[in-house]
Amino acid sequence: MPLHRRDFVSSALSLAATSLAGIDARAAAPEARSGAGPNNRLRVAVIGVNGQGQKHAQEWLANPDSDLVAVCDCDPNAFVRLCEKHFQDGRRVPEFTTDVMAVWAMQAGKDVYVEKPCSYTVEEGRVMTQWARKLGRICQMGVQSRSMTGMRETIDFVKSGKLGPVKVAHALCYKRRKSIGLVDTPAPIPPGMNFDLWAGPAPAVVPTREKLHYDWHWNHVTGNGDLGNQNPHELDKARWGLGKHDLPRRVMSLGGRLGYVDNGDVANSQLTIFQWDDALLISDVRGLEIKTPVTFGLAAGPLRVANIWWGTEGYAVAPNYTSGVAFDYDGKQLGAWSGGTYQAHFANFVAAVKSRRHQDLHLDIEDGHLSSALAHLGNVSWALGKPVEPGTPPTLAADEKHVRQTFESFTAHLRENEIDFQTTPLRMGRTLTIDPQTERSTDPEANRLFTREYRTGYELPRV
Ligand SMILES: NC(=O)c1ccc[n+]([C@@H]2O[C@H](COP(=O)([O-])OP(=O)(O)OC[C@H]3O[C@@H](n4cnc5c(N)ncnc54)[C@H](O)[C@@H]3O)[C@@H](O)[C@H]2O)c1
Repeated sequence: MPLHRRDFVSSALSLAATSLAGIDARAAAPEARSGAGPNNRLRVAVIGVNGQGQKHAQEWLANPDSDLVAVCDCDPNAFVRLCEKHFQDGRRVPEFTTDVMAVWAMQAGKDVYVEKPCSYTVEEGRVMTQWARKLGRICQMGVQSRSMTGMRETIDFVKSGKLGPVKVAHALCYKRRKSIGLVDTPAPIPPGMNFDLWAGPAPAVVPTREKLHYDWHWNHVTGNGDLGNQNPHELDKARWGLGKHDLPRRVMSLGGRLGYVDNGDVANSQLTIFQWDDALLISDVRGLEIKTPVTFGLAAGPLRVANIWWGTEGYAVAPNYTSGVAFDYDGKQLGAWSGGTYQAHFANFVAAVKSRRHQDLHLDIEDGHLSSALAHLGNVSWALGKPVEPGTPPTLAADEKHVRQTFESFTAHLRENEIDFQTTPLRMGRTLTIDPQTERSTDPEANRLFTREYRTGYELPRV
């Protein structure tokens, strides 16, 4: 069955569609890297190879049970860069297909490894899950910490009860994001690029900014800021440690695009609170310079892109994708774990493709959806917000001690960066109430933003 001309641009630009049954395109004759016979080897296609897709190609080439048979990119320059890097003779890598997104790949009988965030809206991840189940496809999201042994052991400890009940978690993303520039001209389109495919379901309007690739993360029509770019990694781990398998009941997000005026329009500094009936997740995104290291008074040292899980008897910190450490509140270390490779997540996908059990995945699409949707919920809250004076406390859980501490630290960080709140105001998001059963809000305006208008030819197929 031929792949349809669809896109996957806005949220998950790198995707591998695989099938044990095989796909049409052939690449260089695969080396026999394992004892697996040809019928047991996965034939893999990677789509979107400018940035993360290069890493995918590298991992698939290293995987002993798969053959990378095709790569595809609507920008031929990205394709050529990949070939120059990984293949002596780029012509031996055929173009696979023009365009596909995860649902269409699954409908075409492929299993899918889709990058984080797996979706652009709250609704999309649920629809992807429904298709995966209906069609019996294997669909994994690319948050590789899920397969790192150090992280898996850390989470086991968090859930073991040895920290006491764990009801609060932090997802921290302190990652400097500089201005993307301020121009009034359209981004240059790389020679030969198929812009229509690139734009996918978004309006086919060339964005006003310096650079087309990558900076789509910072415009809301295609991206979702670092809450939805880097922080799905940390939101996912936080939720995993809290043991939550549904959407929170309440969400509120405050912040702004602060410190510069550029062509971006999503927040670069954003504090988001997710509240279940018995648990709290605090997401803290800081795109400006961290001038004073942030430790929250913990023994784990300065935090950057990290997680904290707070128990009644102690806490655990994961300072990166592969490790964790736990302490009691007297500073005594309770345990430390580390290790794991990126390849392990690909190997896990391969194992599930072979077993045909989505339960074998370390990050099945449903879990991927729940973690991605956290970012979307935060952005919906923020989008519906109003400018406030600096220092105005959050309108959700403001008295909870971790929320208070995080807000104070967030505010101090903005002050240190001498934010001009006149040109770049702070916005207090609307508090959303969500029914975890229906994954809808009580707020019709919010519900409209849980989905989106799809450009003709790029509509999301509903189950
Ligand atoms: N798991 C991780 O650690 C990790 C790290 C980085 C990025 N990512 C994710 O990977 C994805 C890609 O990010 P990136 O930084 O590589 O973006 P990018 O903009 O640098 O590259 C995307 C590539 O996809 C191509 N593309 C876009 N639409 C296409 C279509 N319809 N058909 C074929 N090719 C198409 C573009 O031409 C470009 O070459 C994002 O979802 C991002 O969040 C994950």
